[in-house]
Amino acid sequence: MVRDELGDCRRCKLAPLRTNLVFGVGNPSADLLFVGEAPGADEDAKGEPFVGKAGQLLTKMIEAMGYRREDVYICNVLKCRPPGNRNPEPDEVAACEPFLKKQLAAIRPRMIVALGKFAVQCLLRDDAPISRLRGNFRTYEGIPLMPTFHPAYLLRDPSKKKLAWHDLKEVNAALARVGVTPPNPPAP
Ligand code: URA
Repeated sequence: MVRDELGDCRRCKLAPLRTNLVFGVGNPSADLLFVGEAPGADEDAKGEPFVGKAGQLLTKMIEAMGYRREDVYICNVLKCRPPGNRNPEPDEVAACEPFLKKQLAAIRPRMIVALGKFAVQCLLRDDAPISRLRGNFRTYEGIPLMPTFHPAYLLRDPSKKKLAWHDLKEVNAALARVGVTPPNPPAP
């Protein structure tokens, strides 16, 4: 198991600062997987990704797509909280990335949604702005990947929610084309 291999991780300088390592949550054989950036204070306290304000918005987005949190899988590039929620640093990403990749290889979802620039940069090695990448399907290890805005950014600029919803509808449509439909499909 990837979680066992990660263990009580001390591979980077974030380890001594964490309360909890935030591995990931959801269905280990999910068709749909979301990747964020890194835990914040709420996630660090709880040991679960996306449970703070941005997490509540992500949960609403998932539910609007017709899924419950427990139907999908949610994880981050970094498993430990950067102090003061600063951006992940390259050595931290380098230490943590192998575990994200192993998580993705174990789950092998039908679709990945990359939330924000760090998830996209890590998985696609593309540092174009997220505003340019979003909305267009890419491929990660043969799995379709949709880049979209991070929910924390949507909280700062709610006018972009429309674009994110457009991206998520594209995700549902692409999943439907391979026979994957949500348990509670949204009205068309
Ligand atoms: N932001 C993230 O990128 N991940 C979380 O788990 C919470 C907030």
